[in-house]
Amino acid sequence: MGEPYYITTAISYPNGKPHIGHAYEAIAADVIARFHKAMGRDVRFQTGTDEHGLKMAQKARELGLTPAELSDQMSQHFIDMAQALNVNYDVFLRTTEQRHHAASQEIWKRMEANGDLYLDRYEGWYSVRDEAYYDESELVEGEGGVKLSPQGTPVEWTVEESWFFRLSKYQDKLLALYSENPDFIRPEARRNEMVAFVSQGLRDLSVSRTSFDWGVKVPGSDNHVMYVWVDALTNYLTGLGWPEETDAFAKYWPANLHLIGKDIVRFHTIYWPAFLMSANLPVPHQVFGHGFLLNRGQKESKSLGNVTDPIALAETFGVDAVRYFFMREVAFGQDGSWSPEAIVTRCNAELANSYGNLVQRVLSMIFKNMDGKLETFSSVEADDALLAHVHDACSVELPREFASLNFSGGIDAWMRAVFACNAYIDEQAPWTLRKTDPERMRAVLLTLFMAIRDLTIAIAPIVPTAAGKVLDQLGIPADQRGYTAFAHAGWYMERVATGEALAQPVGAFPRLELPAEEGASA
Ligand code: MF3
Repeated sequence: MGEPYYITTAISYPNGKPHIGHAYEAIAADVIARFHKAMGRDVRFQTGTDEHGLKMAQKARELGLTPAELSDQMSQHFIDMAQALNVNYDVFLRTTEQRHHAASQEIWKRMEANGDLYLDRYEGWYSVRDEAYYDESELVEGEGGVKLSPQGTPVEWTVEESWFFRLSKYQDKLLALYSENPDFIRPEARRNEMVAFVSQGLRDLSVSRTSFDWGVKVPGSDNHVMYVWVDALTNYLTGLGWPEETDAFAKYWPANLHLIGKDIVRFHTIYWPAFLMSANLPVPHQVFGHGFLLNRGQKESKSLGNVTDPIALAETFGVDAVRYFFMREVAFGQDGSWSPEAIVTRCNAELANSYGNLVQRVLSMIFKNMDGKLETFSSVEADDALLAHVHDACSVELPREFASLNFSGGIDAWMRAVFACNAYIDEQAPWTLRKTDPERMRAVLLTLFMAIRDLTIAIAPIVPTAAGKVLDQLGIPADQRGYTAFAHAGWYMERVATGEALAQPVGAFPRLELPAEEGASA
């Protein structure tokens, strides 16, 4: 097994069904996990649900359920969504699990032992929607002069006895962390915000609540439950078996990447590393705050009636198309916009017409004109040039861009290689060579066969199902489908030596159509 790589998504509040933003993050994390696996790493991918806190307690009351019932019902929808989107996590962690309570109490005790917790009274603003405390100075004015959080959510004045964490003590340590590890917070804009925020000075953080009891009990303070973010963040440790000295913990901690939305960067880059330092644990390598997906430029909301069920979206367009669109269309880290038309246009132009069609044409011609037989051939300069371009795009450019989470850039390099194949096939016109120079026709089709193998392996983390089908048709063995196979120059001769002929190809990238009624998927 290769080098360990631990990636996590944020765990979601299961106070309703998953929405498009959850799908986007889950897909992106899955792409990253598959990419690193393809690179030969030993990947661990964790996701889950964040089930405590006031927001969950209030929602349950509203629905006449216990918070535990609400969590049980709704977390299942997140599991179903992952399945529907081909999101292949290793661990799905629910914070109501007993082992998670134990881990949260352990980190609490370590912070306490380090002298970082004290009892006092909290008086200030709280947003239940964000499960966040805000300073008066951060609030903005909403309609009619009401005070809102910087995220635009309602805030309420809260007064209660509370444990505090000495966050102020960590200001310099955090600033040192950011400057010594410039990639700790990504993208750059998020990093700048956090550096500015911490530089202003940090107040100690209220880390327990006494006005409700849906949470992890504070050790030794039975009337307190932990502030939901204290236990939530600890999920990243719980999933590795911590505080037991497990192999998983030794291998995978500190995490390589916490992938989260841009609205929760503060919790992950200020509170979380401070908690970890206090508990004497190493901090993660990187936190990446991705952008939001807008529906035709607008945030999805019940009042606008544009809330999309990600499972329905995948059923309408196919999982691979949805995955491709999100990773291709949106500059990762920025906000992006989607619409059914944009999915259809993008996927038809690139996946169906440019790439899918290339695969289908080449494999059909090999099947029809060469009895599906692969053989050795002698190449000319144009063939070598094409293969060099494709190989470079797939084995160097795309992996380099994916490694830095620039998915649209990586796919761009891939598309240029697809275009080069299409330009080559038009120039070489194997359908004409069939009569004039059959030997040359074979060389052209076999060159394209080799190119398609590279292109398909490269794009597989994005469109795993369709790529798997194509690689099956090419007869590429299961253990030669990772990026490590790019370095294996002998693959083609080995493939030829099997003597297996190609079967009649079946298309893996169907053309999409808009659903009949507008908004049928919404
Ligand atoms: N439930 C939080 C949210 O959706 C995210 C928690 S991520 C965690 O905003 F790691 F802190 F748990």
